[in-house]
Amino acid sequence: MTEDERRVTDEGNPAKPTGHYGARMLRRMNESHADVTDWALDYLDFDSSDNVLDVGCGGGATLRRISCRMGEGCGRVTGVDYSEVSCEESRLYNAPEIESGRIRVVQASVESLPFDDATFDLVTTVESFYFWPNPRENLAEVRRVLKRGGRFLLVADVYGRPGLSEEVLANVEKYHLNVPTLDEFRELFSAAGFSECDVHTKEGTDWVCVEGVA
Ligand SMILES: C[S@@+](CC[C@H](N)C(=O)[O-])C[C@H]1O[C@@H](n2cnc3c(N)ncnc32)[C@H](O)[C@@H]1O
Repeated sequence: MTEDERRVTDEGNPAKPTGHYGARMLRRMNESHADVTDWALDYLDFDSSDNVLDVGCGGGATLRRISCRMGEGCGRVTGVDYSEVSCEESRLYNAPEIESGRIRVVQASVESLPFDDATFDLVTTVESFYFWPNPRENLAEVRRVLKRGGRFLLVADVYGRPGLSEEVLANVEKYHLNVPTLDEFRELFSAAGFSECDVHTKEGTDWVCVEGVA
């Protein structure tokens, strides 16, 4: 890793990216999160008329992935992020889709989503839940904006399990990450009012994908 790349790691705050190094980190995450995102999105069926929300959209790659999976139709994807730089990067990355009205990006926190109750068919979040300030309340806020029967997919490349590597544990401590166990995820989803919760993991990785039904 060059000195410049190291500064992206050290100075680009993944919890709330800011400035030049934050933007560089988001572009890097657009690539480094591709595999876990594709694995998890396979658990959802996207319809061309769906109204979809991605919370903590970062550099915007998940928005485009979802839009592609929805195919041609009247569906729409909305990205939300509380970081100004993340919103800017998501808009740059998806400029043609924004121009055509298929994607929009809104600056807001998961603590108070600026949408009516029962707005979305599907909500996703990739590598963002770690940083949410109040997981129980924030999950309830996600459920509020889902239509009844709508699905929420939480994606993370690490969850709380015995035997995490020293490197992963160091990152959990450094960035104060929320990394629930699988049982804790089930309990959190139930407490937030999701009627069903399926948890998926991938052998040989620390990946988790938690699917809740509103
Ligand atoms: C590690 S990045 C992941 C970005 C993107 N989803 C990806 O997979 O590359 C985490 C993102 O979540 C956003 N985020 C963290 N807490 C948030 C909150 N309370 N509300 C909205 N966005 C949040 C951060 O600003 C950042 O853009």
